[in-house]
Order: sequence, then structure tokens, then C-alpha cells
Amino acid sequence: MTVTITPLTPGFVGEVTGVDITQPLTQPQVAALEAGMDRYAVLVYHGQRFADDDQQKRFSRYFGALETTAGGNVTRPEQRRLDADMADVSNLGADHQPLARDDRRRLFNLGNQLWHSDSSFRAVPAKYSLLSGRIVVDKGGNTEFADMRAAYDALDDETKAQIEHLVCEHSLLYSRGTLGFTELSEDEKKAFTPVRQRLVRTHPVTGRKSLYLSSHIGTIIGWPMPEARAFIRDLTEHATQPRFCYSHKWRPYDLVMWDNRTTMHRVRRFDETQVRDMRRTTIAGDSVTVEQLAA
Ligand code: OGA
Ligand code: MN
Repeated sequence: MTVTITPLTPGFVGEVTGVDITQPLTQPQVAALEAGMDRYAVLVYHGQRFADDDQQKRFSRYFGALETTAGGNVTRPEQRRLDADMADVSNLGADHQPLARDDRRRLFNLGNQLWHSDSSFRAVPAKYSLLSGRIVVDKGGNTEFADMRAAYDALDDETKAQIEHLVCEHSLLYSRGTLGFTELSEDEKKAFTPVRQRLVRTHPVTGRKSLYLSSHIGTIIGWPMPEARAFIRDLTEHATQPRFCYSHKWRPYDLVMWDNRTTMHRVRRFDETQVRDMRRTTIAGDSVTVEQLAA
């Protein structure tokens, strides 16, 4: 089998065929997929029926070390349905039943409906995310992706010059605060201490610039907060116009992988009394985007 990538949208989303990612891969196969990620930023695979989470982890590790989920949610260790290498982005508790409407884990996870880049709230933010749809819903629940390279390219020169060296503060406090989710324990507040990220990133392989936006942004260093928020809101509105976006309708056993350095994503509403079992592995990044404040 040879890895084949067919564009679903020009230069942004590719569909991969000719590879069974539930099985060990060869080095040339991995290289073809990594090159595909550099060229596109989102790759879609259909019919990848992982027998267990270890198969998803094995495939993921071809692209780098796994990021652990610690400090990225409000689920207590004893409440976990999946192990600490798996981000549980389902709507389920450990008993595999949909969470109650007022369950704090559910309310926290609603933050995934806001445009974001995974782990932009970590000092070293994520490289890739790999999301496996084990049980999907047939109405709603699409995952949408926005191309932050194309969004950057479309800015006028004045704006590009204005944002070139800006640094933003990112935290789960900000994205959840937007939803009115503000009741946090002291430990949670500490875990969600803001980090700094450049607003313009350069891809290490292609050299393409992109906007590094996320709902986790709460301010721009050196700016008054309301001015920063209004500006980030404006940039986000620009960057998520339909011409930069792709909407993924899930089929069972799809795997979608994306580059968090160059894209944003969000999930759309669905009937949360239905089971939606989505499991994510995340590839750790290898560097900060800007110096962090000393702790
Ligand atoms: C994620 C995420 C979207 C979804 O996995 O990082 O934001 O479709 N999930 O559940
Ligand atoms: Mn996400």
C-alpha cells in the first residue's frame, strides 16, 4: 500500500488512503504523513478501528512524545474514564454514561465549542492532536477547523507589521471565564496560571507564518485588557471566515489529526443525551514560542 493524500480543500485538509494506522508503520509511511501535515494542516482518515487506546498511542508516537493531560481539565484522577495519556473529549463519565447537565466536567468541556488551539495554555504548547471518533452522533457534533496560515496571509501589511512581535497571555481561566465558568478551586487556579505565546508563529519546516489565536487568550502584554480583547476578537472573526474553514462530519472510526501550531478548531453543538465517545492523543511541542515569566 502507498500512502495517498487527496485534497478535501485546497492546501488545508487532506484525506489519507492506503495506510492502516492501527498497525505498525514503516519509516517511509511516517515520513509521507508528516510531509502531508506540513503541506496540509489537517489530515482525515476513515475506517481506522483501533482495537484499544494503545494502538492509537502507538500511531501517535510516530510523530513525537505524548503530552499528558494533567492540568488541562477539572476531572479528578478517580473520575477518569481513560488513562492520563488520553484526553477524554467525550461527553461521558467513567460509567460510560452521558454526564448530567449540571456536571462540572461537562460544563468545563463546553469550552471546546469555542475556537481554540489545543494546549495553547501550556508554556510549551502542543504540536499535533489526533482525535479518534469511536462513537459519533449523527446530528450536530461536527468539528470545524480554521487555517491560521491562510488567515495570516490575508491580513493587510499594516496589520501584519502591527502584530509581528505581539505576545499574548493564554489560560484556561480566560476561555472558561468567557462561558461564565469561574468557580475553581485554589489548585485549579494554580494549574491554570497564564502563559505567554507569540501572536505570530513561523512553522519550523515550511517557514510559513500563521496567527496563533485561541479562546484561551486573555490579554496582550503591554495592552489594556479591553483593547486587547476587542482586537483579538476582531482577528478571530477575520480568521474564522468560511473561506478559511473546513467542517468535519464524523463517521465511526474516523481519525482526524491537526497541527495546533497553524490551526484552530471547535466542536459544534449536539444532543448531549446521546453518547459521543471521542478520544484524543496529543503530541507535545518541542519549544516555547516566547520566554516565560519566572514562576
Ligand atoms: C479536541 C476538541 C473537538 C470535538 O479534541 O481537542 O476540541 O470534536 N474536540 O470533540
Ligand atoms: Mn481541542
